[in-house]
Amino acid sequence: MSENSSASPSAPLLAAARRHTPAYVPVWFMRQAGRSLPEYRQIREGVDMLESCMRPDLVAEITLQPVRRHNVDAAILFSDIVLPLKALGMDLDIKPGVGPVIAQPIRSRADVEAIEVLTNEHIGFISEAIGLITAELGDTPLIGFAGAPFTLASYLIEGGPSRNHERTKAFMMSDPQAWDLLLSRLSDISTVFLKAQVAAGASAVQLFDSWAGALSRANYERYVAPYSQRIMSAVGDEVPKIHFGVGTALLLESMAATGADVVGVDWRTPLDAATALLGDRYAIQGNLDPAVLFADWSVIEAEVRRILSEGAAAPGHIFNLGHGVLPDTDPDVLTRVVALVHELTAA
Ligand code: CP3
Repeated sequence: MSENSSASPSAPLLAAARRHTPAYVPVWFMRQAGRSLPEYRQIREGVDMLESCMRPDLVAEITLQPVRRHNVDAAILFSDIVLPLKALGMDLDIKPGVGPVIAQPIRSRADVEAIEVLTNEHIGFISEAIGLITAELGDTPLIGFAGAPFTLASYLIEGGPSRNHERTKAFMMSDPQAWDLLLSRLSDISTVFLKAQVAAGASAVQLFDSWAGALSRANYERYVAPYSQRIMSAVGDEVPKIHFGVGTALLLESMAATGADVVGVDWRTPLDAATALLGDRYAIQGNLDPAVLFADWSVIEAEVRRILSEGAAAPGHIFNLGHGVLPDTDPDVLTRVVALVHELTAA
């Protein structure tokens, strides 16, 4: 536990992550801060996404909005996986409805060599924001996060979101040495980003490898896992570490083996099947399909009950969605899901 964090180890999220017995199943939502909340849309009006991530007052306010509204068991820092790249001075933007767009994609070894080293001086606004956040959170943990090297590399090489990741895979397999340098530099960047968050008071971290599911298991293990592992071991044991990707049914064991405490599972894999693969050494997180939040309440309730019952097989379960909250989600439904999870699992 970071000395700056006020969250107690008995906070349900931290207890579940450490495979102890929480007072009830903890719940938070990936992308809980964002366009589903009217108060977010209001405060973001006229402020660019990445600019809002660099203003401590806005970061703190937006991070706290879903905690106040939904009674979730953790806050997640309002930022973005590409923020450290922006802080390094790369010419990139987050385009609404599209995602990160990079002006000069990385296409050669020389481009890779030009990527600079991230230091704490680049991201002082993050530590400042976390100070404001933990002061208000009290016992509720703050989750810090970073992008995993593969997902970051895909944005950098493709120049933006990609369906097939073809340039990324071609680069990875054609020039393994330049790939090694690229993923090493990105590992170092994400490590500095995560350690700064922990030092400032985050009490858990999540490594997002959102697009790892595009890879075969063999290529994941050869070209990606060693770099994510390097981040996990550099972050160390001070806080529990969550590792998440989408479409990773066949990668769960490899992702766990990078040094995670908690494995995030998308909605395609039932949690009892994930636990059968992972055994008793890892807690799991997930996995309500974010699209199900658009169905009738009776459907949502049945799905929440199914997931809680399948999750009970794991040595620790953190309830979440299988991926992020979709922008048109009714926020009142999220609040009801939190209350339902708490009600069904409190002793
Ligand atoms: O989860 C949270 O509430 C914390 C904040 C958070 C954001 N991005 C804020 C955000 C986190 C953890 C992320 C991580 C992130 N960013 C990932 C990994 C998680 C995942 O979704 O798989 C990825 C792939 C990105 C890159 C990214 N940033 C995308 C694909 C988009 C969506 C573009 C769009 O407009 O649909 C973003 C933008 C973004 N990041 C928004 C938010 C709240 C929306 C921007 C806005 O409101 O204008």
